[in-house]
Amino acid sequence: MAKIQDTGLIQDEPLIFEQGGKGRRGYSLPRWDVEEVKVETLISPHLLRKELEGFPQLSEIDVVRHFTRLSQWNYGVDSGLYPLGSCTMKYNPKVNEDIAKMSGFSNIHPYTPEDLSQGILQLMYELQRFLAEITGMDDVTLQPAAGAHGELTGLMMVRQCLQARGEKRKKVLVPDTAHGTNCSTSTIASYQMVEIKSNERGVIPPERVTELMDEEVAAIMVTNPNTLGFFEENLGKIAEIVHRKGGFVYCDGANLNALMGIVKLGDLGVDVVHINLHKTFSTPHGGGGPGAGPVAIKKELAPYLPTPVIGKQGETYCLDYDRPHSIGKVKAFYGNFGVLIKAYAYILSMGAEGLKRVSERAVLNANYLMNRLKAHFYLPYDRPCMHECVFTDRFQEKHHVSTLDIAKRLIDYGFHPPTIYFPLVVKGALMMEPTETESKGNIDRFVETMIEIAEEAEGNSDLLRQAPQRVKVRRLDEVLAARKPKLKWTTPSPRWGEE
Ligand SMILES: Cc1ncc(COP(=O)(O)O)c(C=O)c1O
Repeated sequence: MAKIQDTGLIQDEPLIFEQGGKGRRGYSLPRWDVEEVKVETLISPHLLRKELEGFPQLSEIDVVRHFTRLSQWNYGVDSGLYPLGSCTMKYNPKVNEDIAKMSGFSNIHPYTPEDLSQGILQLMYELQRFLAEITGMDDVTLQPAAGAHGELTGLMMVRQCLQARGEKRKKVLVPDTAHGTNCSTSTIASYQMVEIKSNERGVIPPERVTELMDEEVAAIMVTNPNTLGFFEENLGKIAEIVHRKGGFVYCDGANLNALMGIVKLGDLGVDVVHINLHKTFSTPHGGGGPGAGPVAIKKELAPYLPTPVIGKQGETYCLDYDRPHSIGKVKAFYGNFGVLIKAYAYILSMGAEGLKRVSERAVLNANYLMNRLKAHFYLPYDRPCMHECVFTDRFQEKHHVSTLDIAKRLIDYGFHPPTIYFPLVVKGALMMEPTETESKGNIDRFVETMIEIAEEAEGNSDLLRQAPQRVKVRRLDEVLAARKPKLKWTTPSPRWGEE
C-alpha cells in the first residue's frame, strides 16, 4: 500500500489504477426483475474481451475524490494571480462557458447543411468582422487552432502570393525580441531565418532593416508588443522599407491585449497578423489546446485564405469553397468552434469601449507592478512598458540566488511564478504580466511577496535555494525528466485494499 505522508490536506494520491478493490462499482441499482440474458448470446464471443487486465474497480466516491484531489494540486487562473509573461493568463468569465454550452451550439454537427446552420455561420462571420475591425485589416480566417498555427497559415498565404507574382524569395527577417514560435514558423515554412538585433531601447532599429532588406526577403515577422513588453515604435517606417522591396509585414499580434481600441495594426502597414483568442479574448488556455489563432489579412492576400471562407450573400451566410488560389484547409471543418463562441461572447459583452479599457488597464497594471518592484529587482530596460515587464536576477546574483530560485520561492507563497529565462535577449529574465483582470489589492500582495523574497535573498538565501517546500512535489530533476521521460504507467503495484 502506498505510504501516506504527513502532507496535511495535500494527500498522497496513488494512480487510479492503484486504487479500488474487486467488485467495487460506481452504481447501485435494484435487482433486475426480468430474465438474465448472457451477453455472449447477443455479441459474438470473438468480439468480447474476457478481462481488462489491471482495470480498476472503483466506487463513485473513489472516483470523485481521486479527481477532486488531483484538481487541488493544480494551479490555474481560478486559483490566483498567474503572472506568466507572454501568456496573458487572465481570468476567463464563466458566462462565456455557459454560452458555449448552449445546446444550439454544442449539439450541432459540423456537416449540418448551410441553410440549417445560419446562426452558427452568422456568429463566425461577425467574429471575423470584429477581429478585422480591431486589427484594421480587410479579412480574417478563423481556422488556425493556435497562435503558432496562425503564423504558419499566414506565411503560407504570403508564399502563395509571392508564387503568383512569379517570385521565389528565400528569407524571413525575425528580430531577437520576437516570440520563439516566429523562428520555428519561418523555418517550417521553408524560409531561412535572418535575425535582426534590437537596439538599446529594446525595439527594432529601421536602419538595420534597411541593411538586411533585399528582393530575397519574403517577409519580416514582428512581434508587437514585443517580448520585452515594448511597442515597436518604428513599425510604420519598417513597413515602408519592407514594402519598397516587395516584401510582406507579418505581425505576431498575440499580445493584442495591450493595443485594442488604441492602435490598429493595419494602419501601421501590417499585411498579415495572427491573434491569440486564448490570450487577448479571454478564452481558456488548454494544456496544449484547444485554442484559436485567427489570421487577419489585407486584401492582396484574400485569394489565398484557407477554405471554406465564411461569406455572406445578401442576408444569407455561406461556406465558400470556390477559391482556386486558396492554400487549402489548415484545420478540420471551421476551427475550434467552442473557442470562437467564447471569444464572440467576450467581445459582445465588453463592447468597443470595454475592450479599450481592457488594454488601458493591462498596460497600467504592468507599469504599476514594474515601478513598485524596480528598486528590488534589476530592470534592464528602465522605460514605460506595455502589458508586461522584464526583470532579472542581477541584484540577487551576489547572494548566489538565481531567477529559478526566486520563481520556486514564489510557489511557497502560493503564487504561480512568472515566465523565466525568456526572452533570451535578457540574461536571467523574470517576465511578468499581471493582466487587467487583477485588482490593485492582488497586485500589491504579489509585489509585497516579491519584496519579501528579495529580502530573504539577502538575509536567508538558503530558503530560496531549497524552495519550494510547501508543495506536493519539490524541485524536479528537469534534465532527467527531459532525457528519460516516463510517459506510461508501467509498475503494477498492489491495489489499495488488496494486500
Ligand atoms: C507573442 C506570442 N506569439 C505566439 C505565441 C504562440 O501561441 P500558441 O501557443 O497559441 O501557439 C505566443 C504564445 O503565448 C505568444 O505569446
